[in-house]
Amino acid sequence: MNNVPTNGDVMKSVVLSAIGEPSEVLKCIDRPIPEPGRGQVRVKMIASPINPSDLMLTRGRYMVKPEVGTSLGYEGVGIVEKAGPGLLGKYMAGKRVAVLNAAGGNWSEYAVLPANRVVPVPKDLPDEQVASFFVNPATVLCMVREVLGVRRGDWILNNAAGSSLGKMIIKLGKRDGFKTLNVVRRESLIPELKALGADEVLVEGNGSLSESVARIVGQGGLKYAIDPVAGQSGTDVFESLSHEGHMLVYGTLSGQPLTISPRPLIAGKRLEGFYLGHYMQKRPLWKNLLLFKEISRLIREGVLDTPPGPRFTLDQIAQAVVAAEQPGKDGKVLLTIS
Ligand SMILES: NC(=O)c1ccc[n+]([C@@H]2O[C@H](COP(=O)([O-])OP(=O)(O)OC[C@H]3O[C@@H](n4cnc5c(N)ncnc54)[C@H](OP(=O)(O)O)[C@@H]3O)[C@@H](O)[C@H]2O)c1
Repeated sequence: MNNVPTNGDVMKSVVLSAIGEPSEVLKCIDRPIPEPGRGQVRVKMIASPINPSDLMLTRGRYMVKPEVGTSLGYEGVGIVEKAGPGLLGKYMAGKRVAVLNAAGGNWSEYAVLPANRVVPVPKDLPDEQVASFFVNPATVLCMVREVLGVRRGDWILNNAAGSSLGKMIIKLGKRDGFKTLNVVRRESLIPELKALGADEVLVEGNGSLSESVARIVGQGGLKYAIDPVAGQSGTDVFESLSHEGHMLVYGTLSGQPLTISPRPLIAGKRLEGFYLGHYMQKRPLWKNLLLFKEISRLIREGVLDTPPGPRFTLDQIAQAVVAAEQPGKDGKVLLTIS
């Protein structure tokens, strides 16, 4: 935000004081309120979630290395309170919007960003759902419906199924008619995931995953898998796929690499990475508008809704980031801003 014009007033904002452990290096400071330039809007932030990618970025383990002094927070909900010159910004003024801030800065009282990065949302969606409107819901729909093309009756293996995103996959399966074979690392999650509509739930480390998968899926084998863990867990998932199976790896929660022999790849198994940021850049605007509409509909239906978790203020950022990574935490941690 250096060299950005300001109005002389100050706001609270969470910034990165160094690359390192989030609870130590994320600081809530006062900084000038930025003014929107041409084609930009200023959003008064209401709330913003803490996602795993925010914490990976803070530790310097994400796709891009952040600069010290950077303000964090990539999605959230707020109200457009000022527009710079330009028609789109004027149209957005006064609207409650999902804030898709590719440059970061939503963990602040005000965020300035391009007007085409805010999405007006239906009035009946609660703030806590709009706060997580985009990253997980869009990833679920793009991976399952567009990239893999999972159809009614197909099985998909869903690793780390107890995550916010994993639960969305389970509920989408129930709605769209595909079957979910879910893998978790704690037995206590089984009743909850079954209640959401999980067809099968396996606990990591309870015997051979390949054998369990073969027994459950039966003839033809497993065609689809999605994995945000990598390491031994993701490697086991890859090995449990059929010869022509297709796996998307979309996270690195274990921090460990996959260990994969090239032979199955040569023979036709597919392993592919998925990153929403890159995927969205390749799509035309009309497709994204349809996606936003579908996300609103499926949040309203209770399919792509985010389980709410503990709430913290910007000043409590150190406690908030610890809560966001607590094993067995309940729901998505939210920073409530105004
Ligand atoms: N590639 C993309 O474009 C994209 C987009 C969106 C999300 N993602 C990824 O999707 C994943 C889930 O995101 P989220 O927001 O749904 O997360 P979340 O709600 O914060 O949940 C994290 C989950 O991961 C589990 N977990 C953490 N470390 C693990 C490990 N080493 N082994 C197995 N499970 C582990 C936790 O299990 P417990 O419940 O047992 O603690 C928890 O259920 C993240 O990796 C995120 O980066 C990627």
